[in-house]
Amino acid sequence: LTNSLQDIISHAKEYGFVFPSSEIYDGLQAVYDYGQNGVELKNNLKTAWWKAMTQLHDNIVGIDAAIFMHPLTWKASGHVDGFNDPMIDNKDSKKRYRADQLLEGKAEEYAAAGQTEKAHTLLAEMGRLLGAEDLSGVRDLIIAENIVCPISKTANWTEVRQFNLMFSTQVGSVAEDSSLIYLRPETAQGIFVNFLNVQKSGRMKVPFGIAQIGKAFRNEIVARQFTFRMREFEQMEMQFFVRPGTEMEWYKEWKETRLKFHKAVGLPVEKLKFHDHEKLAHYANAAVDIEFEFPFGFREIEGIHSRTDFDLRNHQELSKKKQQYFDADLDENGKPFGNYIPYVVETSVGADRLFLATFCNAFTRETVGEGENEKERTYLKLHPALAPIKVAVLPLVKRDGLAEKGEAIAQSLKSSFRTVYDDGGAIGKRYTRQDLIGTPYCIAVDYQTMEDDTVTIRHRDTMEQERVSIRELKEKIGYQVSM
Ligand code: GAP
Repeated sequence: LTNSLQDIISHAKEYGFVFPSSEIYDGLQAVYDYGQNGVELKNNLKTAWWKAMTQLHDNIVGIDAAIFMHPLTWKASGHVDGFNDPMIDNKDSKKRYRADQLLEGKAEEYAAAGQTEKAHTLLAEMGRLLGAEDLSGVRDLIIAENIVCPISKTANWTEVRQFNLMFSTQVGSVAEDSSLIYLRPETAQGIFVNFLNVQKSGRMKVPFGIAQIGKAFRNEIVARQFTFRMREFEQMEMQFFVRPGTEMEWYKEWKETRLKFHKAVGLPVEKLKFHDHEKLAHYANAAVDIEFEFPFGFREIEGIHSRTDFDLRNHQELSKKKQQYFDADLDENGKPFGNYIPYVVETSVGADRLFLATFCNAFTRETVGEGENEKERTYLKLHPALAPIKVAVLPLVKRDGLAEKGEAIAQSLKSSFRTVYDDGGAIGKRYTRQDLIGTPYCIAVDYQTMEDDTVTIRHRDTMEQERVSIRELKEKIGYQVSM
């Protein structure tokens, strides 16, 4: 059974993982809320990342910087001048499109029709024109390629304009005093401006890293594909400060380390690949994406960038505060390396994209049983450490003390891991409810439990049951649900 993105969106909503934002008002485009199960899964992913970065690396520490930052931050980072998408409006439908995506769509059409060379030529031409100061050539190309507006079906296009993706707002109590500030479009700058604070207060020695998880905001015009492209989203970023000249070694190392992480949280190796960037962002001298195969194709979930000293150098220039580090280690001539602005290798993964990748990968529909007993079964095959609920305790029936026994078992497990108790309805239905949210273990309390203090553990993926003593539960399950 193949799963479409629509199946995944429906399942996420029906079982409390992701809801459209302010849905009673028909939602807000590209903004989503996480429900009771979604928040647990997302928190578990964030915890796994935080642990992999900080707990497992002696030389990486975390911070939590504010979303609002001094406006000059975004001047220094290049976002005020360079964080743009080329937009074009259709005069008839009044709809706005990203010019590059219209052209990419056309190139995909050529490629699908077997005209690969034509597709390549178009993309190369597009790249050349988008790099120009004057973007009128891009509009001419859109018209020459006969690209029509998907809604009005006309080619009545405006000029192409650069559209900044940052959201802005005012701070200050009265209009005259207020100044324009931005909602951060990446968390990384909160790390850069704190580089020396952390280095000095933590007595950190290069190479070292600073990790952060937090919200970021981008006014994405083409907002599609569920939590893949949102206007408010969460990033998990780590800036690794290194001695200039050593950045490529670290870049290679972090590429491998990050790929291993995605495998460890359960993404299968055949659905992951690297995609090297030919076109580099304004701050990078090398960049690679880790892509995951979503139902809509291979797409970026994480970026690893060698950012040179671009950010720290610009912050030094605009703030007039030295952003240098004194390296006392000795070079090959026996002299200290001395003062320098460190180079940075960055790893940046979207929590919402990792969530979506994990969710898509876990969503399983299969046919079980044979002949008359054949039926379809849906469950979430999540790594036990990521599952929103680890254990459900289910008494076979409510009478004869089974309910009380079940409640006591649930109570004894609660402080160790997320446990629920459920005695409503037929046991088969209760197993199904847990399968649908990915609970790895269901504990059934039956009449034998009352005699010998044993229960059955039903395993989600195999549906196999094993009999174990109540005493063993905490250790047996605890071992499985940690990462
Ligand atoms: N500091 C570098 C940086 O922000 P990026 O490639 O623009 O680089 C990094 O973003 C990651 O953030 C992406 O790989 C993606 O997972 C996530 N991300 C970016 N824009 C997003 C959006 N609109 N919605 C959800 N996640 C997004």
